[in-house]
Amino acid sequence: MQLVTGTLLHCLPKSPVQLEHSPETTLLIDDHGRIEAKGSLADLQKQHPKAPVIDYKDRLLVPGFLDTHIHFPQMDMIGAMAPSLLPWLEKYTFPTEMGFRGRSDLMLKAAHQFVDELLANGTTLACVYSSSNHDVTDLLFEVFAQRGLRGIIGKTSMNRHAPAPLLVPLADDISQQKALLQRWHGFDQRLALALTPRFAPSCTPDLMHALGELHAEYPDTYIQTHYAENVGELLWIKELFPEARDYLEVYESFQLLGPRTILAHGIHVEEDAMQRLAQTQTIISHCPTSNLFLGSGLFAWRKMEEHGVPIVLGTDVGAGTSFSLWQTMNEAYKVAALRGTPLQPVDLLAAATWKAAQALGLTDVGSLEVGYQADFQVINIRARPLLERRVKSASSAAEVLAALIHLADDRCVESVWVNGKQLRSS
Ligand code: GUN
Ligand code: ZN
Repeated sequence: MQLVTGTLLHCLPKSPVQLEHSPETTLLIDDHGRIEAKGSLADLQKQHPKAPVIDYKDRLLVPGFLDTHIHFPQMDMIGAMAPSLLPWLEKYTFPTEMGFRGRSDLMLKAAHQFVDELLANGTTLACVYSSSNHDVTDLLFEVFAQRGLRGIIGKTSMNRHAPAPLLVPLADDISQQKALLQRWHGFDQRLALALTPRFAPSCTPDLMHALGELHAEYPDTYIQTHYAENVGELLWIKELFPEARDYLEVYESFQLLGPRTILAHGIHVEEDAMQRLAQTQTIISHCPTSNLFLGSGLFAWRKMEEHGVPIVLGTDVGAGTSFSLWQTMNEAYKVAALRGTPLQPVDLLAAATWKAAQALGLTDVGSLEVGYQADFQVINIRARPLLERRVKSASSAAEVLAALIHLADDRCVESVWVNGKQLRSS
């Protein structure tokens, strides 16, 4: 048992989602890392006189972020400038990913640095694409297990349209997926495997079919891929799959859609496809810093939402330019504003926390209510004097949150807890 005190800022787990700003509140965290009770320090201390107290005075406690789309190898190529997605993949991405193979000190160091960076930014769960190499993916799982953060991790499947060292033949890929599944899927409550066809152009139909079958055999695995990010990509899909009525039908036809599937981007999407996304409760991971960096387009958040598609947020490093979900919310706001449909601060926080957890089927993650996992970041607004000044002039909880969305970053993340354990302190 432990008692942690601070000012809570989080989404109450109800629909419509509601923001709670609760000054000087104490969480009682049980030995399983769950929030058992909430209240005043004096009352909780009376009931649990032996529990140690951690007092985050003048700090905000915000749920840990869920980054629902990020590429491990691509942290080495953030800011690699190219005219658009396909030349960016050819010129920078594939050569970088070729270097992410095998078990070595270099790869171990990279995996630890990746985790350091996630934690430094307040991320407590990440949906990660590793490279197409089995051994480095295995090592990444190992580092996540050791460091204690939550990971939905996949070895990127690709067997065509990339340099030979990245391609893994179908039979090898499936047996490597099965090895990762046996070793890591549900290894502890924090880790899961995501089957990860890179995107339809990188996988032959029989590979996508085999991944769809593997998912049907193990329905609690996740699926993650890219979808409708770029107009050049859409034209290529038409060439490669002339029989499909649209891009979504390609994934549909291999049984790759459903509530455990996370499709990154979903920018160039007709209303009919939005309806099918909603019907299957397929999740869209919106990655605004990436979409702006590659000039991919402006995501139609409100329209997707009206259709009932679950929307979550991703950094998409390295097309994305920041590990910070604060920065990602900031850019998501501007993308929506450019479309003439601005968002509320609570919409953004929910997509980075509670709604993301809900979408992923994690019913006890993403909020600081009783019964939820003690996964949170400790925010010190004084780390940025401008932020402190702006928060002081805010007149509502929503305004405080808006100030954080537009001004907070890793400088403000003082400490991070997952499952009742402090994983990072600055
Ligand atoms: N489409 C296929 N692969 C990728 C990738 O690595 N990044 C992005 N942004 N889009 C992709
Ligand atoms: Zn991506």
